[in-house]
Amino acid sequence: IDKMISASDNKIGTSIGYVGNIVDLWERIVEREVFVHLGSDQTSLHNPFQGGYFPAGLSFDESQSLMHENPEDFKEQVQNTLRRHVQAINHLTSQGMFFWDYGNAFLLESGRAGADIFNENGGYRYPSYVEDIMGPLCFDRGFGPFRWVCSSGLDSDLLETDKIAEHVLSEMLEEEKDVNVRQQIQDNLKWIREADAHSLVVGSKARILYADEQGRSRIAAEMNRAIADGRITAPVILGRDHHDVSGTDSPYRETANIRDGSKWTADMSVQNFVGDAIRGATWVSLHNGGGVGWGEVSNGGFGLLIDGTNDSERRLKSMLHWDVTNGVARRAWARNDGAIASIKRAMDINSQLTVTVPELVDDAILDDLIGDE
Ligand SMILES: NC(=O)c1ccc[n+]([C@@H]2O[C@H](COP(=O)([O-])OP(=O)(O)OC[C@H]3O[C@@H](n4cnc5c(N)ncnc54)[C@H](O)[C@@H]3O)[C@@H](O)[C@H]2O)c1
Repeated sequence: IDKMISASDNKIGTSIGYVGNIVDLWERIVEREVFVHLGSDQTSLHNPFQGGYFPAGLSFDESQSLMHENPEDFKEQVQNTLRRHVQAINHLTSQGMFFWDYGNAFLLESGRAGADIFNENGGYRYPSYVEDIMGPLCFDRGFGPFRWVCSSGLDSDLLETDKIAEHVLSEMLEEEKDVNVRQQIQDNLKWIREADAHSLVVGSKARILYADEQGRSRIAAEMNRAIADGRITAPVILGRDHHDVSGTDSPYRETANIRDGSKWTADMSVQNFVGDAIRGATWVSLHNGGGVGWGEVSNGGFGLLIDGTNDSERRLKSMLHWDVTNGVARRAWARNDGAIASIKRAMDINSQLTVTVPELVDDAILDDLIGDE
């Protein structure tokens, strides 16, 4: 804590690791009345009672034993620690800290533990990071983690795909007028330009790159041409993460900023699964549990192998369009500003696309007609 305060006073950017229970640290920060600007939590609360979250007051080994020998007692201690955890966070936010859920089910499990985590409307006191950050900045605008794997296993092919992605994004940046979209493209250009230098490849020759529907389709089409003319030596497999614009129904994470009530439904993953299958995916999956745990989320995913043929071009254009636009449409129906703008753009670009756009009602008129009830 002393190091942290001194770095902050001297405006030195640094990163400090604390080995111990996070609740002991938060409580000590409260006791010393330290001002914290931003706070979140990265324990594995999607799996709270089997080692994702450790109770305060027990060593790692003691926790492991208790978990196996007396799981009920372990659960009680986890929930007790969570209540203390939230108490410390609530105190710091009352002093001005901004706190958000990192997508690790902190809010969900704290609520289940009976912690003081709800506001007067029955919602959570704090946002999930998708509500405040990823949703408005990326997902509503169709930007999400597109990815690909070079089946040749060659570095030279991966480098070629990087060059293609960089070229396509540079062209898109020149064409783009919307400042929000320009910022996204600029970030993604920086990422792809530096990806190779940072040796990000783990095992397979794969890359991940945030891109919107246009970006994904144009990059994929260019890769397909490169396979056809031999610049890339073998087929490329396209995919995406489940943590994306569409394909995942997860009310505490990916769909947390869909506030029209439909975040509790699980139909988008099914629509992605069925639509992707019909439009040409090489394989599809409909599954459960992605990122936040079994029973909390429904996921639809795909893999699409492109091999340089005209058929691959037809499939990639049809399928990638659906895979992204399906989610943008849903976000637009929820009246999310960025998504309404994005779906209108998508209709301008593709005259075959017709999506109903919500007509926004002035809240004052509604209040006047039906009152607060
Ligand atoms: N927002 C995102 O994009 C995103 C991405 C990946 C993962 N997640 C979520 O974030 C969480 C963490 O992911 P991970 O891959 O780092 O998990 P992990 O299990 O590798 O790491 C969690 C760590 O928290 C520690 N921990 C548990 N209880 C603790 C306590 N009381 N005090 C201090 N440390 C404690 C564990 O020992 C472990 O080292 C998961 O719930 C995951 O689903 C979110």
